[in-house]
Amino acid sequence: MALLPIITAPDPRLKRKAAPVERVDSTVRRLLADMLETMYAASGIGLAGPQIGQLLRVIVVDITENDEDPAPLKMVNPEIIDVAEENVDYEEGCLSLPEHYAKVVRPRGITVRYLDETGASRELQAEDMLATCIQHEIDHLDGILFVDRVSAVRRNMILRKLIKAKKSSDLPDYAELSSAIKAPI
Ligand code: NI
Repeated sequence: MALLPIITAPDPRLKRKAAPVERVDSTVRRLLADMLETMYAASGIGLAGPQIGQLLRVIVVDITENDEDPAPLKMVNPEIIDVAEENVDYEEGCLSLPEHYAKVVRPRGITVRYLDETGASRELQAEDMLATCIQHEIDHLDGILFVDRVSAVRRNMILRKLIKAKKSSDLPDYAELSSAIKAPI
């Protein structure tokens, strides 16, 4: 098991469409296990392949609280096959947009078809927060972030802050550093 680095926005890798998994083999199972471990370590409730640089249609989800028994879901090639007419809004966050939240309106319930980690086809009916979380993760597989589902004003505000945060965490430029230190090579 291994922790994987999580890609944060803005990053072109988060805007691409992920490819279906052709065969659920041990490599895919290891990826799902690593993704789940990474998600728990980051205190997230969902993680999708593109967020760790794997452009594959794989997601992991666990919306249980810390004091509850874990209920991890590992989904390969998830596909929403039915949605409820009623909508609901949740304040969504994302491990790829750290510290930013916005209300997103989505269908309250969904039926999702997917392959489990043995490669068996399954269907799950989900409602409320679980339905929201699965929809958010499937969006990642299509290059859609939750900020793409809010107003342009709110989206631009969040993206501007993320760009600023990325710049301030940049390491000093090596050329600048070497000329300043004048270290022997
Ligand atoms: Ni996300």
